[in-house]
Amino acid sequence: MARVLLTRSLPFDAITTLEADHDVVTHPGPLPPDRATLTHLIADADGVLCLLTDRIDATLLDAAPRLRVVSNLAVGTDNVDLVACAARGIPVGATPDVLTEATADLTFALILAAARRLADGERAVRAGDWRTWEPAGWLGADVHGATLAIVGAGRIGEAVARRAAGFAMPVLRVGRDDDLHAALGQADIVSLHAPLTNATRHLIDARALAACKPGAILVNTARGGLVDQVALAAALHAGRLAAAALDVTDPEPLPVTDPLLDAPNLLVVPHIGSATRGTRERMVSIAVANLVAGLTGAPLPHPAPGT
Ligand code: DGY
Repeated sequence: MARVLLTRSLPFDAITTLEADHDVVTHPGPLPPDRATLTHLIADADGVLCLLTDRIDATLLDAAPRLRVVSNLAVGTDNVDLVACAARGIPVGATPDVLTEATADLTFALILAAARRLADGERAVRAGDWRTWEPAGWLGADVHGATLAIVGAGRIGEAVARRAAGFAMPVLRVGRDDDLHAALGQADIVSLHAPLTNATRHLIDARALAACKPGAILVNTARGGLVDQVALAAALHAGRLAAAALDVTDPEPLPVTDPLLDAPNLLVVPHIGSATRGTRERMVSIAVANLVAGLTGAPLPHPAPGT
């Protein structure tokens, strides 16, 4: 019976099916295994179902001589060294498509929340600061008709663009070869959907933020590493950006002492783009299908992009 490591407890039906005919070892508890624990647990695994919180690199792979498949429970695979896996003939699976709509929904929720200052308003109500209807209180920005730059116009970016059509928003799609700074100069709202690679790390740096239209809003539901957070904090403090809403940060979790959290008009949520019950069930099903295929030597139904 093949031995499979789950790096976190996954309370979903697909795991019960997996357990029926595999020897499944699950790292217990709500937190990721630390490096030493992961190295120990993976040593005799034939396959691993891992999360975006697990770093799967060459050193770890060297400690896993039996490993035949890495199945990542995410569409992003920046936590996995794809080159090191390929060099060892280990296929890597991902979970594309099934989280596209849920992530686009959250993106739009963040766009609306940041533009209309939902977090500020909610805090004011709880603090007893809602004294009357205020003609100039909690003023935000219009979303309807605002120009939206979608940076990284893949599947999720396109799903956001479809939602933007309902808000009569002109959409600027910014691909790898497009002029990012020119688009930033025209956009009222900038939404990030690019994968994190060496080329995209800190894509939104101080220069990019300086190129933004004054009063623009930045939304990131992709990867925290796309944004230079020191530069973002400075742009928010300076009022150069009106607001930012982040589902992802670098690192994750963002320490409560991180200076970014002192910046005004900032909304941060804990990486919940795909966090709907149905989406997570589908993600786990795909991850299990990838895992089982890899264990039998069959092509993975959903290989990681670029593998
Ligand atoms: C992913 O899949 O890459 C998301 O960030 C988590 O669902």
